[in-house]
Amino acid sequence: MSSSRLIERIAVITSGGDAPGMNAALRAVVLAAEHDGIDVVGFRHGYEGLLNNDYMKLGRDEVEHILQYSGTIIKSARSERFKTDEGGIEAARNLDAQNVDAFIVIGGDGSFRGANHLAKFWQGPIIGIPGTIDNDLYGTDNTIGYDTAVETAMDALDKIRDTAEAMDRVFIVEVMGRNAGYIAISSAMASGAERMILPELQKDKPLTIDALVKHVEGVNRVRGDSSYVMVLCENQWPGGAVRLAEQLEDRLNFPCRPCLLGHVQRGGRPTAMDRILATRLGVYAVQLVQEGITGVMAGIEKNELVTTPLEDTWVKRKVLSQELIDIQTKCFNPIKKDRHKATVDKA
Ligand code: F6P
Repeated sequence: MSSSRLIERIAVITSGGDAPGMNAALRAVVLAAEHDGIDVVGFRHGYEGLLNNDYMKLGRDEVEHILQYSGTIIKSARSERFKTDEGGIEAARNLDAQNVDAFIVIGGDGSFRGANHLAKFWQGPIIGIPGTIDNDLYGTDNTIGYDTAVETAMDALDKIRDTAEAMDRVFIVEVMGRNAGYIAISSAMASGAERMILPELQKDKPLTIDALVKHVEGVNRVRGDSSYVMVLCENQWPGGAVRLAEQLEDRLNFPCRPCLLGHVQRGGRPTAMDRILATRLGVYAVQLVQEGITGVMAGIEKNELVTTPLEDTWVKRKVLSQELIDIQTKCFNPIKKDRHKATVDKA
């Protein structure tokens, strides 16, 4: 939707789970706005700040040297209060009280649902910028924070491999992603993990402990004494990595260790990819509000700036690449290797 109007003041929030690169996006919004003579105010702690009228003016001094830091200088939060009609009305009142003409939210699907809720009570242009490590939003190839989270997971997996290889152990490494396997498949591929457990692969045929035991045994048969690293996406095994390691150890009779990467994946220096993505999307969002465009997420697909209606970002599903799944499956298929071994043995 578009209806061009003069924008003099933009409000911005970071909302939901923080993601590396949110600061870089904030910086881009502020610098692009300042370039175009627009003021920016940041409401602290996401939608909670809108309800509490807790805001700060954001100018060049506040944002100039923040793009190398994760977290968010205006804080983030999840707000239940805001989801009510009273919350929406209060937020709209506070935006009007600050003479805000346009609103930009940096966050994931929960934050975009919030933006749609706000649109019921407030008329100005509203733009979403995708900021979540999960990369689970339709309408953009990558979300801000995802690349850094994968780097962090890969780095941890490389370190786990060192000790696993030294002691011929099985490790189950649990990564984040909520209900999406993007971090899991990318970090598994980048670190050469033997197995991955992803929501996308579990949907039709949930994995059993028998199948996993068989796979570990198959890999060991082919390789002899060796390490085995399994990447488990969170919420995909009852009791998570700790329980799965116990179950495997019971069956395999050798040490299986769990490792939960957890919130480590949300911190650290944002990668160049995330900083650049955040900068492009921040500048684009400021352009969009000035064009009077509203109710969309700014994204990048095939290196082109694109917009997607906010609702589509969570209603439509971004599909995990089958090519990546196939590659990963081919790289660790001990059965084919067995066949080769059998041929060599016979010869
Ligand atoms: O959406 C980002 C994310 O880090 C998910 O990967 C994870 O499931 C969730 O947030 C964790 O939320 P919290 O920080 O509230 O524990």
